[in-house]
Order: sequence, then C-alpha cells, then structure tokens
Amino acid sequence: MTYEDVQACAAHIKANFKGDMPRMAMVLGSGLNSLANAMEDATVFSYADLPGFPKPTVEGHAGRMLIGKLEGKPVICMQGRAHAYEGHSEEKLGYSTRVLWALGVEILVLTNAAGSLRKKAGPGSLMAITDHINFSGINPLVGVNDDRFGPRFPDVSEAWNRKLTKKLHKCAEALNITLHEGVYLMAKGPNFETPAEIRAFKTWGADAVGMSTVPECLVARHCGMKVVGISSITNLAAGMQAELTHHETMEYGAIAAVHLEKLLRAFVEEVL
Ligand code: HPA
Repeated sequence: MTYEDVQACAAHIKANFKGDMPRMAMVLGSGLNSLANAMEDATVFSYADLPGFPKPTVEGHAGRMLIGKLEGKPVICMQGRAHAYEGHSEEKLGYSTRVLWALGVEILVLTNAAGSLRKKAGPGSLMAITDHINFSGINPLVGVNDDRFGPRFPDVSEAWNRKLTKKLHKCAEALNITLHEGVYLMAKGPNFETPAEIRAFKTWGADAVGMSTVPECLVARHCGMKVVGISSITNLAAGMQAELTHHETMEYGAIAAVHLEKLLRAFVEEVL
C-alpha cells in the first residue's frame, strides 16, 4: 500500500465527515463494543467501504471506524482490527494506522485482550503497556521505506509514551481502578501458546501475551504518533491455569471492559 493509497483513503473519509477531525484515535479490542456504541454524533464507516482496509474476520470484532465524540471530545474509535493470524500481509497490518495518521491523529490508544504471565494480574484486570517484545516474526515496516511516513530505521526506545501512560495511571487512581503495568509480548497465533513458550517468555521479561497491537504501535511510532496501550487480561497464560478457550477470553474481556471503558473516558477528558 503506497503513500498515495493512504492519502486517498484519508481523503475519502474527510469528504464524508463533517466536523472537527479528532487528534486522538482508539483501537478497541474484542469486548469493547459498548464504548463504540456510546459515542455521540458518530459518523460510521464500515471497513468494507474504506479503500484498501483489511477486513477483520474474528467473532467480537465489528470492523467499523467511528468518528464522533466521547465525553464531548472528538475521538475516532476503531472497532475491531485485522490480525496477522488471519493471513493479512505485513504491510496491510499497518494500513489503518497510517490512514489515522493521514487524518491528523497524533495520539493512538491501543487496547487488546491478553493472557497474563503474572498471577497477581489475573483475569478481568487491566495492564498498561510499558514496552513490548515483538515475537510475532512479522513487521509492517518491512519493504521499501517511504520517507514521507518516517525514517528507514525508526527509534523505538520509547515505543509507549511515558507521559501519557502516567496520565492513565492518574485516571485509574482517581477512579479507584487497579491498573497493572508491564511488557506485552506479541505472538503471531492463532493458537494460544504452549506452557514451554510461556516459561520462556517469562524469563525474557514478558508480563502479558497477545496476538495484536505491536504492528500498529510500530507503524504509529514510525510516523511520529504518540502511543499508549492497555491490555484487558482475559486469562492467565498457558500452563498457569486450566485450558484456554475463546469463549473464556470473551467472558473475562467483558469484565475488564467495564473498567476499561471508564478509564478511557477519563483519559479522553484528561488529555483532550
Ligand atoms: N495468549 C495470546 N493471546 C491472548 C491470550 C493468550 O493467553 N488471551 C487473550 N489473547
């Protein structure tokens, strides 16, 4: 997908939206539908109608971009995302993030469902992402670099914005919501990890494991957006509890979602 493709998609969105283009976008992982549905004055674009967008295929991921307001502040909500395990190419996984950048978004809030490698951060809890390990084997920045997006070798020593993460903690404290923090490791999936993999990841310093988010973060940092992230812990990772099911991730995702929705609303008010 070229720079021109990205700009053409952004132009299509701008032509079909009246109002202030938001500075902040949120990518909502599975289970956060109620937040998207609660947006005020939303203009809704189905990913199917956005030129070049990969279409998500997973249960619980709607595939819509909503441009509207939360707490009276302009925000874009991305309801659902494309995952590497669905078979999308590396460059496709970065496309929607680049479109957000072309729309003028400066702050990207990434959420996901994840398994926890720390017993104390159990199912239903939230974890702010302080750093990541890209164990997916994929990277959306592979290929000829277009300098109009960003440099060939982007610095990711602060992939996750520290100041904004501090603000998340401040909001969580005010709401009396426990917000753990830790390192997110991306595995490509679609299978959950083996217990041996989880033991290995623990020794590397991973605190949570999931199958998304890192591609969006890398693309966003490449083009200079600030990124903040929160994992909804849906389960303890493989070998730390009984068998894992997608149904279970949905159920605990729903519990974490109640807190995450409150936290995101407070964050919007704090930052915008
Ligand atoms: N592993 C990977 N992805 C996940 C998990 C997990 O345990 N839980 C939710 N998404």
